[in-house]
Amino acid sequence: MNVTLTLNGRQVTAAVEADDSLYTLLRALGMHSVKCGCETTNCGLCTVHMDGKAVLSCSVPAARCDGHAVTTLEGMQEEAKRLGECLAGEGAEQCGFCAPGLMMNVFALAKENPHATEAEIDAYLAGNLCRCSGYVSQRRAVKRYLESMEVQP
Ligand code: FES
Ligand code: FES
Repeated sequence: MNVTLTLNGRQVTAAVEADDSLYTLLRALGMHSVKCGCETTNCGLCTVHMDGKAVLSCSVPAARCDGHAVTTLEGMQEEAKRLGECLAGEGAEQCGFCAPGLMMNVFALAKENPHATEAEIDAYLAGNLCRCSGYVSQRRAVKRYLESMEVQP
């Protein structure tokens, strides 16, 4: 079957199999920021936005994205640069494998709760696993990013 979606602002039509996940489709379309760490909805690495909300692309059937808008990190370069600087500045990035999924969740958090407390940041990002840097430095980076958004013109 064919699906037509708006991917990072551009309309795309692609053939999918009934058992393809959105993760598989996005990788086939060249969205290599999207990573897979588990395929069982446990790690958060595959997080993208569908119609502006964070979803785990490994658990969304590709057929479900027909007619919807999907955003990956490739479509959020300016925000990614700003958040990347916060992560690097707080020592919250080592191998970087978890970063794209974490970033997509942080962008969703920034929209839903731009003044999140530390406890709210921890709760929101609890599904994003990182094997390297630990979560305290990530929390500091996310706070720094949210605070930097407040001073944006
Ligand atoms: S790959 Fe989707 S949650 Fe781990
Ligand atoms: S920085 Fe390596 S998994 Fe998070």
